[in-house]
Amino acid sequence: MKVIKTLKRLRNEIRRARQEGLLIGFVPTMGTLHQGHLSLMQMARKETDLLVVSIFVNPLQFGPKEDFKQYPRNPKQDAKLCKDVGVDIVFAPADEEVYSSGFDTYVDMTKLTSKLCGKSRPGHFRGVMTVVTKLFNMVEPDIAYFGQKDYQQATIIKKMVKDLNMNLKVKVLPTIREIDGLAMSSRNQYLTTSERLNASRLYQALVKSKQIIISGNKNADKICHAIISELNKIPKSKIDYVEIVDADTLEPIQKIERQKVVIAVAIYLGKTRLIDNIKICI
Ligand code: PAF
Repeated sequence: MKVIKTLKRLRNEIRRARQEGLLIGFVPTMGTLHQGHLSLMQMARKETDLLVVSIFVNPLQFGPKEDFKQYPRNPKQDAKLCKDVGVDIVFAPADEEVYSSGFDTYVDMTKLTSKLCGKSRPGHFRGVMTVVTKLFNMVEPDIAYFGQKDYQQATIIKKMVKDLNMNLKVKVLPTIREIDGLAMSSRNQYLTTSERLNASRLYQALVKSKQIIISGNKNADKICHAIISELNKIPKSKIDYVEIVDADTLEPIQKIERQKVVIAVAIYLGKTRLIDNIKICI
């Protein structure tokens, strides 16, 4: 496995792989890898010939009051995990390699980015879209892999790839969960012991609401209220949003009937912001 920090070296490797006709798989990450990332890498390892993983904590997707500085960084452990999965190239550029001085070009979208997390994290998806575009231009993957846990992010990236005629396929793989149901996330390490114990109640509320829908209740407002009352019982929690949305447009829906919907939630547990979702096909 090669750990590459410069674009020049990465481009040499990519050129060589292209000349050999290899299929390039790509998993973009911000490091502090967990089983969720590893499941994407394992799938990419099976499906492609050259597996590239990027590790880059992207300053552009953090708001001024967000956790860019504290965001956990664990390069040695990450490199070991990548090696064990059989990654070929870890691309871990410095900030200046990605954003040269005077950088002033951004990628953005209007509709999908203004919903759900976009309301409380203005500029976040512009930062994600910009860095993912840059990484796609650097790695030139045939297939890129994202997790369903960041459902809105994955939906935006699929749309961006389609709208901008980017020449790659995007695959979205299921959320990987801890035994008690908590969706794996690098930010889970911010949780205190008691917050961690309560964090699984987020997923439990989602599962319960899915059961209510399957048993015939199709009123989205009522279901959201049921989830809100469950989440309000969690100590030190503050709800950011609970929404039932169309799985493609992310538009809120009133009545759940014959369509794919996503129940998406974001809450603060103490200082930690957690997101989760489940998709239901009716
Ligand atoms: O999901 C993430 O870890 C990040 O948003 C991504 C896609 C690596 C872009 O920085």
